[in-house]
Amino acid sequence: MSDSEGSASAESAAHGARGNVRLDGLSELRRSHMANDVDAALVGSEVTVMGWAHSHRDHGGLIFVDLRDRSGVVQVVFDRDDDAGTHGRAEEIRSEYVIAARGIVRRRDPADVNRKLPTGEVEVEVSEVRILNAAVPPPFPIEDDSGVDEQVRLRHRIHDLRRPVFQRTLELRHRVYQAFRRTLSEQGFLEIETPILAKATPEGARDFLVPSRHHTGEFYALPQSPQLMKQLLMISGFERYFQVARCFRDEDLRADRQLEFTQVDLEMSFVGVEEVLAVLEELTVRVCEEAAGVSLERPFPRMSYEEAMRRFGIDRPDTRIQLELVELTDLFATSEFRAFRAAVDAGGIVKCLPIHDAGELSRGDIDRLEKFVKKELGAKGLAWIRITEDGSWQSPIVKFLSDEERAVIAERTEARPGSLIIFQADGFDQVNAVLARLRVDLGSRLGRTDGRAWDPLVIVDFPLFERSEGGGLTYMHMPFVAPLEEDLALLESDPGRVRATHYDVVLNGSELGSGSLRNHRSDVQRRILEIMGYAKDEMEDQFGFLLNALEAGAPPHGGFAFGVERLVMQLAGTDNIRDVVAFPKTQRGQDLLMDSPTALAKSQLDELHLRVRERKAT
Ligand code: AMO
Ligand code: AMP
Repeated sequence: MSDSEGSASAESAAHGARGNVRLDGLSELRRSHMANDVDAALVGSEVTVMGWAHSHRDHGGLIFVDLRDRSGVVQVVFDRDDDAGTHGRAEEIRSEYVIAARGIVRRRDPADVNRKLPTGEVEVEVSEVRILNAAVPPPFPIEDDSGVDEQVRLRHRIHDLRRPVFQRTLELRHRVYQAFRRTLSEQGFLEIETPILAKATPEGARDFLVPSRHHTGEFYALPQSPQLMKQLLMISGFERYFQVARCFRDEDLRADRQLEFTQVDLEMSFVGVEEVLAVLEELTVRVCEEAAGVSLERPFPRMSYEEAMRRFGIDRPDTRIQLELVELTDLFATSEFRAFRAAVDAGGIVKCLPIHDAGELSRGDIDRLEKFVKKELGAKGLAWIRITEDGSWQSPIVKFLSDEERAVIAERTEARPGSLIIFQADGFDQVNAVLARLRVDLGSRLGRTDGRAWDPLVIVDFPLFERSEGGGLTYMHMPFVAPLEEDLALLESDPGRVRATHYDVVLNGSELGSGSLRNHRSDVQRRILEIMGYAKDEMEDQFGFLLNALEAGAPPHGGFAFGVERLVMQLAGTDNIRDVVAFPKTQRGQDLLMDSPTALAKSQLDELHLRVRERKAT
């Protein structure tokens, strides 16, 4: 248990409602066993256990306390008839008091055995007890399924973290770090730290900025990742680097994102894509095995970005779900059905999601889906066709379709009685986002999975560029990614078609991490920045140090970064990132425990030569 938890409780207890409990010192008493280790093998021995009073039941002559520590819970018993007078002291114990108990382990009566607890066969008959600290009553029971609202739990994070689930999860996270460090060290990677007070690196999010006191009006940027610094380390000759790196991104929060998070970041020199992927597979397999006993099947399957988008509508598909999207854009390019034709005319696409044997999805379900995708996912509508048992087509759009269109749809979707086909017509991203989401939601709901518990996958052959809002080309992941060697010539002739050396590792539909080979030649790096519309002086201004470094003898290099929270989420079986972070921020970026962010005193602002223009009312 950390000191902060203990002292926080003590302070509130001192002023709290519990009155004047006499507190004992720890003095010479020391713990002999963790709670969970007190088992039948110790019957007859004396033990000393220390922890929190999880629950206590006063049965008059006997008082039972469940004493909890990091390992688990053991029952300690205070008998009124014992000579040492512990019973009277035990009457003062309340929930979450910090106590130490010394006594003899004895077997419980068969009727009192608790099969749910590893220590359920025994109890400790207390001969000495010390109340080391009092505590105000906990805001909610320290139990896994307390059903308490997350906002409340975040405000009372000290108590929340005492729940067994958090003790387990943070221990798992620790084992994940250990396994990464062990494996990477074995493979010759050096752990090297890079600055937190750094310079902006474009990783696609906004920077967090830190004002400099010494350089008025100038700012450090917190790193969105150590990307450029690890590239510099390769140029400096370290060959293999890794770091457990804190990253900061001022972005809109989602269930799987935080403003600050941790990467296991790595980089290696003199390698191609295959060597990096071999390291990533080995790492992923060993970390899952050693930290969580999870065995992943090797080799990890590979899939191109193009195939992932076409079949699943997303670049991190969960391929356990046995539903696939079907392309129909060509069919509707010349259609009389206006809603779909218009989408294609505007440069968009039409795709559908066929679900066979979908009888259990009622008309009401479909209406609810339509409302959901319109309200939550920005869809324009949700067209559908159901093939009834007698083979007729039920649908709000069938009247707009020609016989030929019906025939092509039937063929491509392998439609048959009982099939439900859901359509989207809109821009590429929008159509795929909606259908990918429905594929997962409906696939899970209808149990259309192949039964595998784990689904690792490597996605390769991403495009180097994508269209920017202004119509030009911009980087898809970041500006330092190298093109595939065989696509280098396209940088001149048709940059939009250049494929990148970028790769993602995906586990069960979640992007665990991503990486690429980098541009080690300054001419290629310059050309790429040029294609993205950087003028020469802008280029020098923002990336001069990198371009100079590339000219200092940069070896071919590439790497990767695992999102630690994403991996621990998978291994812990949660889809809420806050469940794997000790002190997370809310969706609104606030820390409810310490109450940050906060306004600064005028003196602090003055020192930094800052003035706050106006504070928006919240
Ligand atoms: P990327 O930006 O893809 O790559 O980040 C790597 C991994 O970090 C995790 N991640 C996050 N986790 C929690 N909250 C966030 N806000 C968040 N953002 C990202 C994801 C992601 O896959 N420098 C490159 C890596 C490289 O090319 O070597 C980079 O940062 O799991
Ligand atoms: P409308 O002709 O607009 O009444 O649409 C007919 C059906 O097509 C309705 O079920 C709409 O929900 C659906 N629909 C309309 N636009 C789209 C679209 N862009 N993508 C998918 N379905 C659509």
